[in-house]
Amino acid sequence: MLIEKAAARIAARISQSDTTVAVCLTGGSTPKPVYERLAKEPYSSSLPWDKIHWFWGDDRFVPIEDDRSNAGMAIKALLGKIPAPPGNIHTIPTDVSTLEDASRIYQEELKSFYGKTQLDPKVPLFDIVLMGLGIDGHTASLFPGTSTFLGTDRWVLGVQEAGLEPFVPRITLTFPVMASTQEMLFLVSGQSKREILGRVLAGENFPATSAYTEGNLIWLVDRNASPQEFSEGVTTLQKFQTEPKE
Ligand code: 6PG
Repeated sequence: MLIEKAAARIAARISQSDTTVAVCLTGGSTPKPVYERLAKEPYSSSLPWDKIHWFWGDDRFVPIEDDRSNAGMAIKALLGKIPAPPGNIHTIPTDVSTLEDASRIYQEELKSFYGKTQLDPKVPLFDIVLMGLGIDGHTASLFPGTSTFLGTDRWVLGVQEAGLEPFVPRITLTFPVMASTQEMLFLVSGQSKREILGRVLAGENFPATSAYTEGNLIWLVDRNASPQEFSEGVTTLQKFQTEPKE
């Protein structure tokens, strides 16, 4: 049910644009079946694949062929199955020597796609940004216990130590860049997420609590993950939004 709703929401957002569409993908196990769903009908023959540009909110600093690669996962689940022009697939480079090189190159790529070096709140970079929630309250590769990612003017950061498995260095977009979207869509599924989701929604201080956007902030949550009882299989929480942190 979460899979169907998420796929339909992403497809609807893509279909709203007459021009180029920019989608920012996330990693982890929750979005994989959603990507697989988008590769099937009715989406496979109806979405304007040549107009969609694909980016990632974070990746693990491993080769794209590695099973832990977020880009590799999305390519296997979706992008390799639909006619995506190779030039539209903007993976985070992991074949460079250092995290610093990777984040600098990706930052340049994002700025060049955007056409400006400063984000303009009236001109969102992305049409939709997908997000996940870790059981420790992380999102993208912004982990608890460090606030170096707040107040930075960097668009992309290298993260030497991941707070949760897989324990490999990461590259991540920062909050203001992910905020520059028409819609930010969190996908949260399964009982293991219930406790942390309750704490995040209550406003406790976790990285995921600091996520914000100038557009719509939507939490798509299944019944197992929901801290509140509800009768349907999936609920959409729209109201929760924190103020951007400086
Ligand atoms: C990553 C992700 C990460 C993920 C959460 C939730 O590279 O690991 O981008 O932020 O979204 O950890 O992952 P699951 O869906 O596997 O629980």
